[in-house]
Amino acid sequence: MGNYQISSDVLPTLADFSLPEELGFGEVKVPIMYRADFANGEWQTAELTPYGNIELDPAAKVLHYAQEVFEGLKAYKVGDGRPNFFRPLENLKRMNRSAERMCMIEIPEDIYMDGISLMTAYSEPFIPNGSGKSLYLRPFLIGTRSNLGMGVSDTFTFMVIASPSTIYHAGHMKIQIEREACRAARGGTGAAKTGGNYAAALQSAQNVQRRGYDQSLWLDPVEMKYIEELSGMNFFILQNGELHTPVLNGSFLAGITRDSILALARHQGLTVIERDIPIQEVLTGIQSSAVSEIFACGTAAIVSPVSLIADADGTTYEVQKVDELAATLRQSLLAIQERREADPYLWTAEVDGSYYSEK
Ligand code: COI
Repeated sequence: MGNYQISSDVLPTLADFSLPEELGFGEVKVPIMYRADFANGEWQTAELTPYGNIELDPAAKVLHYAQEVFEGLKAYKVGDGRPNFFRPLENLKRMNRSAERMCMIEIPEDIYMDGISLMTAYSEPFIPNGSGKSLYLRPFLIGTRSNLGMGVSDTFTFMVIASPSTIYHAGHMKIQIEREACRAARGGTGAAKTGGNYAAALQSAQNVQRRGYDQSLWLDPVEMKYIEELSGMNFFILQNGELHTPVLNGSFLAGITRDSILALARHQGLTVIERDIPIQEVLTGIQSSAVSEIFACGTAAIVSPVSLIADADGTTYEVQKVDELAATLRQSLLAIQERREADPYLWTAEVDGSYYSEK
């Protein structure tokens, strides 16, 4: 454990809080937050405090040069026992890879684990316990040095906030191919979980939503030919009974759910292939039924079926099967995440009991 203190306002603030009926995704926040600052070359004592605005110098690097990285992971509490995380150190590893790409400080494991564990332990009464629901944890790191020159910050703030949530994008998704814009370039920051990638996706998302679709389907930025990802989710097709997903190429995110789905599918005896997938092959495959099912996955979205792909000219391709293999994989994944079934991969980890001692 690192050095942290718990503000005396935390317990009274939590005592005043109750969960609303409708949760949605990321709308409701538990009224506490964790914060650790890096200054003068070292991590300062962290604090768990009531949730509230943070003060930033208007010249802070994050506001001008987007020096920021974040993560998304979940704490589950479905059965008895303490809440548990799912592959939390994978999120830390990815966060530190993202931080390295953005020239930011490495987050030590004890500070990260303190942040997510304290937030979960103190929020335990507000973790929704229905299957598919969870406490969505959002750790993030920002560069705070206040000078306007282009350069690297030497002061940082690491925080964890948390949202009792249901599934992001529950239901069947209709997606539209983005043929004009790119989300990230090869050699760019596409594989880092940094806000700029999501900002770059907003305009396309807004355009496709105005046309009645849920998400943009991003193509590779070099040839605009191969599938990359949806904004915030990895992409899968079932083709001739085999599961195919775009091979990691540095311009989109290496999803932890993606990796888990690949392991579960292999375990279920499916052939799993990571490769460059031409969009045209998928469209032709839908028409010939060689591609029988499509879905996307992510921490927030879990496994979300795709029922239709629209091309930019409005031509639509209806997928033959919706939420069959996807439902099986989602159930297998949730059963492990929610500790309803054995966890042969050792993916889940209970919140350490010592985080409860000060409550
Ligand atoms: C997640 O799945 O955790 C994400 O960060 C995706 C975000 C668009 C909600």
